Amino acid sequence: MDLVQLSVCMSLDGHIDSAGADRLLLSSPEDSRDMHAARAACDAILVGAGTVRRDDPRLTVRDAALVARRLEEGRPEHPAKVTLTRSGRLDPAAGFFRCGGRRLVLCPAPRAATLRDRLGEVAEVVVLDDPVPAAILATLAGCGIRRLLVEGGTGILTQFLAAGAFHRLRLAMAPFFVGQAGAPRLTHPGRYLHGPGNRLRVERVRQLGDVVVTDLVNGTPRLAAE
Ligand SMILES: NC(=O)c1ccc[n+]([C@@H]2O[C@H](COP(=O)([O-])OP(=O)(O)OC[C@H]3O[C@@H](n4cnc5c(N)ncnc54)[C@H](OP(=O)(O)O)[C@@H]3O)[C@@H](O)[C@H]2O)c1
Repeated sequence: MDLVQLSVCMSLDGHIDSAGADRLLLSSPEDSRDMHAARAACDAILVGAGTVRRDDPRLTVRDAALVARRLEEGRPEHPAKVTLTRSGRLDPAAGFFRCGGRRLVLCPAPRAATLRDRLGEVAEVVVLDDPVPAAILATLAGCGIRRLLVEGGTGILTQFLAAGAFHRLRLAMAPFFVGQAGAPRLTHPGRYLHGPGNRLRVERVRQLGDVVVTDLVNGTPRLAAE
């Protein structure tokens, strides 16, 4: 993989969504534009099945100039979309499957046949031999993906961050509190490669509207199985 970039927007108290029924808007219009540029620069966008079910994201590049540039460069109009599932609980009518680029669903071997029956018309179902980030990245590289943007949610970010399986982290912070105990957090507790003795490098800090974006670099990415 040439680039694995993680991207997330959180509140001041570290939440990436609310506990309520409605989807929480964290990003600003300026941050959102910059995110679309990040999407346009990658081959694929990865989100977990939890995010597909909760947010129903389209994961497209919603900027005509960025789309035009991709086409000029001989790339597909939109990046591919990737989701991961163990349960197979994915609805073929979800926005993820209805628009945009190539769609890939990665799952363990025992789920593949059922998922191909259900999603075969709207996505490529790819068997994931091992659920760890290194194996996920190797599987995606085998599908021709060299630049990957990982957009969440908590479960996926936790795995990639804990393992140090990324080059860059784009962390946006919205200037308000969610304040709900049950609201999803940036990560779950766990053992993280980047603890107090192994800090990420801050490359730059930008203000995009009222959102502060910190671009962090991982000097020792662990993308392959040790
Ligand atoms: N603010 C932001 O920037 C942002 C961005 C994205 C998402 N979010 C939020 O994040 C929340 C969702 O987080 P989440 O933790 O519930 O869901 P998630 O991380 O999106 O997806 C977790 C699910 O992915 C599947 N999965 C994870 N690791 C896997 C592996 N190694 N192999 C196979 N399948 C795997 C499992 O799906 P199955 O359950 O189907 O087995 C798991 O339940 C939502 O509230 C959403 O709004 C926020």
